Amino acid sequence: MPIYLDHAATTPLRREALEAMLPYLTEHYGNPSSAHGVGRRARAGLDEAHERVGRAIGAEPREIVFTSGGSESNNLAVKGAAWAGKARGHRIVTTAVEHHSVGHTVRYLEKFGFEIVELPVDRYGRVDPEMVEAAITPKTILVSVILANNEVGTIQPIGEVAARVRRHKGVLLHVDAVQAAAHVTLDVADLDVDLLSLGAHKFEGPKGVGALFVRHGTNILAQQQGGAQERYRRAGTENVAGAIGMAAALDLAVAERPAVGGLIRGLREALASRLRGLDGIQETGHPTERLAGILSLVVAGVDGAGLVMALDLAGLACSTGSACATGSTEMSHVLTAMGYPGDEAKGALRLSLGRTTTVEEIEQAGRLIVGAVETQREAAARLGVGAGAAVSIRGSASVPGSASEARAG
Ligand SMILES: Cc1ncc(COP(=O)(O)O)c(C=O)c1O
Repeated sequence: MPIYLDHAATTPLRREALEAMLPYLTEHYGNPSSAHGVGRRARAGLDEAHERVGRAIGAEPREIVFTSGGSESNNLAVKGAAWAGKARGHRIVTTAVEHHSVGHTVRYLEKFGFEIVELPVDRYGRVDPEMVEAAITPKTILVSVILANNEVGTIQPIGEVAARVRRHKGVLLHVDAVQAAAHVTLDVADLDVDLLSLGAHKFEGPKGVGALFVRHGTNILAQQQGGAQERYRRAGTENVAGAIGMAAALDLAVAERPAVGGLIRGLREALASRLRGLDGIQETGHPTERLAGILSLVVAGVDGAGLVMALDLAGLACSTGSACATGSTEMSHVLTAMGYPGDEAKGALRLSLGRTTTVEEIEQAGRLIVGAVETQREAAARLGVGAGAAVSIRGSASVPGSASEARAG
């Protein structure tokens, strides 16, 4: 089995979640909208999932909309709020370091006349709350800010952002908490947000299910029509087993968060200090306001994509997180926004730890990474090429929207 240090891309489904799901994939197979007993049993499971996911983030059951995952939650939040608010205004404020499911969604909305303000971030990937407020005009309907970044792990000052957004009546605040949920205490009342996105597979729940918190009284326009499910906010027969698996995984993640967080922080630090022994390594992201489990680096003189491939062959699964997806020449928009020039961003590496990561794996990963970096640098030196220029392994040029453009996490 390879060492898996790519938990920010996805996590393994935990056994307890699978066990909670199984009855809803077998005997309780009913459609929750059916009037008979078979349907009612599925409905009871779905109701329980709303209640448990709601409770885990301090929300009411009716404020939870189950979706197909983090991307759909972000799409529903941003498009739903934009179209519902169109009569009042057309301005949306966001940051330069959002996940593409927000970043590309606002670009899409731009084609329909919405005005998008993409705020810059500092060297650590943080947005300035004052700048957020300064960008709000009477035409602003939505502010969307990622809580914890998926590439570098930086946590945004959401409390301050929320306090400033709140001074402007009628402006909704959406937070993408997909990456944060496993590691950060989430309470929608404390956070003071209107919309918050979650995705189950980032905290050992199943893939293909997520949730959007929609504060009671918040108006969003459904993006899928054809059914009354999820209180008319998301048409389509519900993924009952997925919702139950998500609830089970989230409950456990919340209960174990303090202990697991401490463990992961220690392992991350052990790996970071091992790698600090290498020349030309910079840790990216905020030094303290960050997710415990993500160690993101830029490594001088190597190509991140080539390094990830070499590590895969050596038995370590990790990602560039993501300076250049394989086959793509596109640089990470996150590192670019943080001010890393292309030749530095090219050497990006993201190592993301999870609950099941062990000390032995971290020790072995340290050895493998040091070895692979040295090998790449020697190869580059032999070929007489500049830092990270040649030893990359590339496929064909990327086509926008092609599979090669898709990035994990
Ligand atoms: C911050 C963030 N938002 C959204 C997503 C999309 O989630 P999903 O993979 O569930 O569609 C991800 C995961 O890739 C993420 O890390």
